Formats: sequence, structure tokens, C-alpha cells
Amino acid sequence: MPIADKMVKMVESASFIRKMFEEGIRLREKFGAENVFDFSLGNPDVSPPPAVKETLLELIDDTNVTHGYMPNPGYPQVRQAVADYLNQEFGTQLTPELIVMTVGAAGALNDCLKALINPGEEILTPAPYFVGYNQYAFVAGAALVTAPTRPDFHLDLEAIQTAITEKTRVVLINSPNNPTGAVYSAEELDGLGRVLEAASKKFDKRIYLISDEPYRKIAYDVEVPSVFDAYDHTIVLTSYSKELSLAGERIGYLAVHPKAEDARLVAAAAGVANTMMYVNAPALFQQVVGRLQGSPWT
Ligand SMILES: Cc1ncc(COP(=O)(O)O)c(C=O)c1O
Repeated sequence: MPIADKMVKMVESASFIRKMFEEGIRLREKFGAENVFDFSLGNPDVSPPPAVKETLLELIDDTNVTHGYMPNPGYPQVRQAVADYLNQEFGTQLTPELIVMTVGAAGALNDCLKALINPGEEILTPAPYFVGYNQYAFVAGAALVTAPTRPDFHLDLEAIQTAITEKTRVVLINSPNNPTGAVYSAEELDGLGRVLEAASKKFDKRIYLISDEPYRKIAYDVEVPSVFDAYDHTIVLTSYSKELSLAGERIGYLAVHPKAEDARLVAAAAGVANTMMYVNAPALFQQVVGRLQGSPWT
């Protein structure tokens, strides 16, 4: 076999997802786009808002725009703009050192997991979960362990408590959730925070919470509470793939809670992981989203 043994299964499952996506394209051609509802990849079916194109045109004419290498975690002014926005939105005290601009939410997940996980450690996530988590766990060299959710797909805190072992390093949640649509309430997040605090004490090791939030801005008629309020040792990550319909441009960020244990070190490690895997997030789209922070679009 010309490829690594451990890649064989990953190639099979990746080609299955791709096959579903390609089948969607084929069916649209055959039956018309209006007759096919494609639930394979989460590709937004609306164009980016006009502000994205306007900002791109502005950048083309701006002689201060750069296209070269930058500090690997991202342009300082873009990370400052993201920190300012998050501080205003969530009342945090984030500084640019705690932000890494990433290659989408996927890049952010790879960065955080690489930064935190030792060989043999586990990632715990409530099930059902986004299928991409299998790949990020694989890249991090960690086992992905699941805890069932309640019948309404909300967190089953007892099940999470039971599933945490001395090997658990990270609990990974995603709210609003793909695939279930569940949005976790402030009370259940607080409960999760208490479970993680108690488990960290019990096993004498810090368990970090990673909150994957690419759907935060496209939840309607429901409040999406801040995970930062529930547990200090949290990394929030997101992307502009869904909220700005920019999935192909690969732009997002991660933010480490200022009160997380070793917050600066964790952010620095995630930044180094980002450098090792991607060097930096796409320069042009960093500058686009930097300019859009705090606008009605972000
Ligand atoms: C829950 C979840 N996390 C992460 C991602 C990856 O997002 P991105 O394309 O921004 O890397 C997706 C994409 O669909 C997702 O649904």
C-alpha cells in the first residue's frame, strides 16, 4: 500500500463525504437546483453580503494593504479589532496576544487540539457531533470519546461527568449545534463549567473547554449565551464561513479566555501549531474581516 496504514480509513471516510457532495451536484443538474436540498457540506446558499465585496474593492485601491508574511498568529491590527469586538460583545478583557487568526474553524480546531493534547489523551464531545471532529482528533493524535446527549439533544451533564477520565484533556462543544440545531442555555453551560472544574480537581489536571461556534450569528429567535461566562479555561473559536458565506476563503479565529490557566502560553502554542500547519491565515481575508469587525455584518 503506497499510503500510510493509518490514512487508509481516513481516505475512505473522506471520499464518502465528498461522494455525497458530488451526488448533490449531479442531482441538481438533473432535477434543477430548486428541487434538490443538499445537506452534505454546510455550504451557504446565499452570496456574501455586499459589504464584503465593497471592502475587497477598498483593499485593492489601498496602498497600505500587504500581501507578504506577517506575525504568524495574524496581523496585530486585525487581532486587536477582533479582541475589541469580543470585549464589547461579551465584556471580556481579551488582548491581541490571546487571538490567533486561523484557516477557518477547522484550522482553529487543529491549532487548539495540537496545542493542548499529549499522546494518549482524549477529547470528549457530546454526540451526535460534526463528522469533521474525527479528522481533527486524528490530526491531534487523540482519541475522540463521546457522551450521549438528552433526547432533546441538550447536554447530559451526568453522562459527561461519567465519561470524563484521567485521560480527558479537552471537552469540545458546538452550539448552535451541527447536526442537531441545539443551542445550549446559560444554565447548562454553567452546569458544564461546574462539572469541568470538579473533574479538573479530581484528576489534578486542567481540562480545557473548546467551544466551536461557527453558527453563533445565524441563530434566529434564540439567544446564544457566552461560554466565556461559564468556565474560565475556555477557547472559543469560529469562522466567517457561514455568517459571511465565505467558506472557501478559509478565515476564522480562536480566542483564549484571559483567565484560562496559562492563557498566554496556550494562545502561543496554538499560534505555533498554526505556523507549523498553515504558516498563517489568508492575508487578504484577514484584512477584510478586520475592517468588518463591529459592522452589522460581524
Ligand atoms: C460544527 C462545525 N465546526 C467546524 C466546521 C468547519 O468550519 P470551517 O469551514 O470554517 O473550517 C464546520 C463546517 O461545516 C462545522 O459545521
